[in-house]
Order: sequence, then C-alpha cells, then structure tokens
Amino acid sequence: MNITNDKIIAFIESYYKSIDDEMEGLRKKNEDKGIPIILRETENFLSFILSLVKPKHILEIGTAYGYSALFFAKTLPNAEITTIERSQQMVSVASANFECFPAGERINFYDGDASKILDSMIEDHSANSDLDLYDFVFIDASKSHYREFFDKAEKLCKPGAIIICDNILIHGWIVDRSYEGGKRHRTNIKYMKQFIDYIQERDDLTVSIISSGDGLALIKLNNEYKN
Ligand SMILES: C[S@@+](CC[C@H](N)C(=O)[O-])C[C@H]1O[C@@H](n2cnc3c(N)ncnc32)[C@H](O)[C@@H]1O
Repeated sequence: MNITNDKIIAFIESYYKSIDDEMEGLRKKNEDKGIPIILRETENFLSFILSLVKPKHILEIGTAYGYSALFFAKTLPNAEITTIERSQQMVSVASANFECFPAGERINFYDGDASKILDSMIEDHSANSDLDLYDFVFIDASKSHYREFFDKAEKLCKPGAIIICDNILIHGWIVDRSYEGGKRHRTNIKYMKQFIDYIQERDDLTVSIISSGDGLALIKLNNEYKN
C-alpha cells in the first residue's frame, strides 16, 4: 500500500531526475533485482535536505547494494560516508559497487550487525576524542531496531546533528488498526510505533514525521547550546 495517493506519487515522481547515468543504471539494477532502496521521492527529499545541511560526515545504517551511500557521496563531493550492512550477500555487491565509482573512495564500509558495530564505534570515540563525529545520520535497516540504532547513533553525533529514519510509516500499517499481516510485520509495527512515541516525547529533539515515500522521521538534536 502506498501511504499517499498513487496518482500524486506518480505525478511527483514524473519530475524525478537521477543525479547521473551511473546512478540511474544502479537504481535500475536494484529495482530489477527487487532490492529495497530509497524511493525516488525520498531521494529528491534527501537531496533538498543535504543541500541545506551540507553534512561533512554521514553515518548510514543499512547499506544494501550501496545505492544510497553512493548517492550521498556523489551529492556531497566533500563528505565522508560511513555505512553499515550485515547481510553477506549485500556486502559483496556493495563492496564491488563502491570500487566501481570514484565516489566510493569516500565510503567507509563496515560489514556486520549495526548494533555491535555502533558499540565499537562508541568505544573508539570515547578512547580518541580526535575522531570525527557525524552531522547527519540515515537509518534504513531492521525496522524493529530503530530505537537501538537511534540511541547509539546519537552518541556519535555532533551537537545539532540531523537524523533521518526511513520507512517510519511502514506502508501505512503503522496507523492501520485492522492490519492482520504476518508476525514479523506486526512486530515491526509495534516497535516502530514505540520508537515514534519515544522521539515525540523527548523534549530535546525537534521531530517531524512526513508522509513522503514510505514515511520519514526528521529529527534534529537540540543540544547545540549545552556546555
Ligand atoms: C532498505 S535496505 C537499505 C537500502 C539502502 N539504504 C539504499 O537505499 O540503497 C536495508 C538494509 O539494512 C540491512 N540491515 C538490516 N538490519 C541490519 C543490522 N542490524 N545491521 C546491519 N544491517 C542491517 C539489511 O540487510 C538491508 O540490506
């Protein structure tokens, strides 16, 4: 189910332009293989936000074949991207994709479970204060673990950083009380709803949930003025 009107989505997407032919080819390959990558509408929205925020250090959780990581690297030629993926099949394709494109040289790729990798990144950062913190985070992985990813990623962020979470409305099921789909989806819905409640209740965050793509949570850490 699309979370907004199909005709409206088709209209918005009719204006979509890929950033270059390589990315257009990569999008097609992902779509042909059924790999779930950022939707066109989401990509447009991220382009806009990135042009405002101009992050230098981006952390992504959920690489898949590397489409969005390459999109970040190509959109921001001075940024460094760190991305984490646990599926070995995805890791081998993403690694090959990163080697194919010059922008891939600015991508630090971690292979493994994001929760564990974030823990070891937090340890490294507490041992070495010279390590760069992130000013932009994109969470696009296992939907029942967003709270955990968010809490850990936040510890690696600069004050005032932006965190964007994809698939926050999970095909609209998050608001559909009659949803009777599979157990995995019911678990994802339950945890995603708890995550939405959590970010909305925190008064040190500015949060906006938008029904673009599969739903995005836009979160700003309001800790710039802390001593
Ligand atoms: C929606 S796809 C990511 C798509 C990618 N961001 C893009 O737009 O090109 C989600 C990916 O997150 C990975 N993933 C899910 N849970 C994870 C975890 N705990 N640690 C690392 N990767 C995870 C999955 O294997 C999957 O490849």
